[in-house]
Amino acid sequence: MLQRNKDSIKNTFNRIFGSEEFYCFAPGRANIIGEHIDYHGGTVIPFAIDMGIHFFAKYSEDNTTRILSIDLDEEYIYDPNQPPSGWKRFFYDTVSQLQPPKAVQIGFGGNLPIGAGLSSSSALVCGIVQLFDIILGFSSTKEALLNKAIQIEKGNGLQGGTMDQTAIFFSKAQHAMAFNCSNGARKYIPIPKHWHFYLFNSGVKHHLVDSEYNTRSLESRIALRQLNHTLGMNYSFLVDVTMAELEKSQDNIDAISFKRAKYVIAEQNRVKQTERALQEGNIQLIGTLLNESHHDLRNLYEVSCSELDWLVEFAQNNLSIAGARMMGGGFGGCTINLTNSELTHDELQMLKISYFKIFHIHLEVYHVFASDGMVCYHKINDPS
Ligand code: GLA
Repeated sequence: MLQRNKDSIKNTFNRIFGSEEFYCFAPGRANIIGEHIDYHGGTVIPFAIDMGIHFFAKYSEDNTTRILSIDLDEEYIYDPNQPPSGWKRFFYDTVSQLQPPKAVQIGFGGNLPIGAGLSSSSALVCGIVQLFDIILGFSSTKEALLNKAIQIEKGNGLQGGTMDQTAIFFSKAQHAMAFNCSNGARKYIPIPKHWHFYLFNSGVKHHLVDSEYNTRSLESRIALRQLNHTLGMNYSFLVDVTMAELEKSQDNIDAISFKRAKYVIAEQNRVKQTERALQEGNIQLIGTLLNESHHDLRNLYEVSCSELDWLVEFAQNNLSIAGARMMGGGFGGCTINLTNSELTHDELQMLKISYFKIFHIHLEVYHVFASDGMVCYHKINDPS
């Protein structure tokens, strides 16, 4: 697991490039509930976590823009005539669009695992956009930066929703954010101090996620079209259809459309219940809703995998948790587990040993805390 903290990234940057002038931290995100709901225009309840990517930067003494991924130990030298791929592409797009008047040197890294469903790509893109904004002294609004980051990420990768980037920019420490993805409204709900969230990283990289994700999005559009036709309605999103309307349409729509729509409508109902339960501090109810969410993600939306199912079932049966489910795009990545007391060393050992015996994978466990979104500053204003 990558364990690099801010000081370690800073020391590497200082050793290679000298003293930094700009700093920014982009967190990863967890999602309590509302999975695969953002691109259906529904409400989701994510929070930024205390794991993420630190960026340090300064103007260059020569004309070369150099970017160093400290975790991957890879360097990228910007060349306007050669669009690269992978992480370098996000820098290429940003530098090409913004055309900084002087070359820059950047070093970045941290403790956010790649491909674990914690939004490492969105954290990277949001961080780059924020970093260049402060380097260039634009002082853009968070909304403008959010839109730019979404536009750059969508140009390159997954055709996702906007939950991840919004959580990365707008989260508030010790709060969950009920985010309405159709009108952009954000409501902050305090997370009780004695609640704990654990993420279990299955170690399975979600290589299926891009293709299957886009397939789910397409299937859902087909389901919506069929339902609108059958009901004689003109709903914009599946979350607007009621369960009663879906049930009465069952014979007129295909089986896949029925399953996908049933998941989306049920999950959106669970989000509403979770929002209320969070305000009332009802951890048992949220636990039950998380368990139900996993059941439906597995059976109706079909985005889970055997490792995630095993982790959820093991936690539900053997650990002192209120509930658990897979989190993020699926097909690998992490599960999220909610409890009102810290898990013991013995519990976690038993989990890791059992997981290894079956899957031959070393399980990583992250005890995460709801944190503030993006942090950035010019060195002269360094608060530390
Ligand atoms: C990925 C996408 C998000 C969201 C989740 C599933 O993380 O980037 O927009 O759709 O999957 O909830």
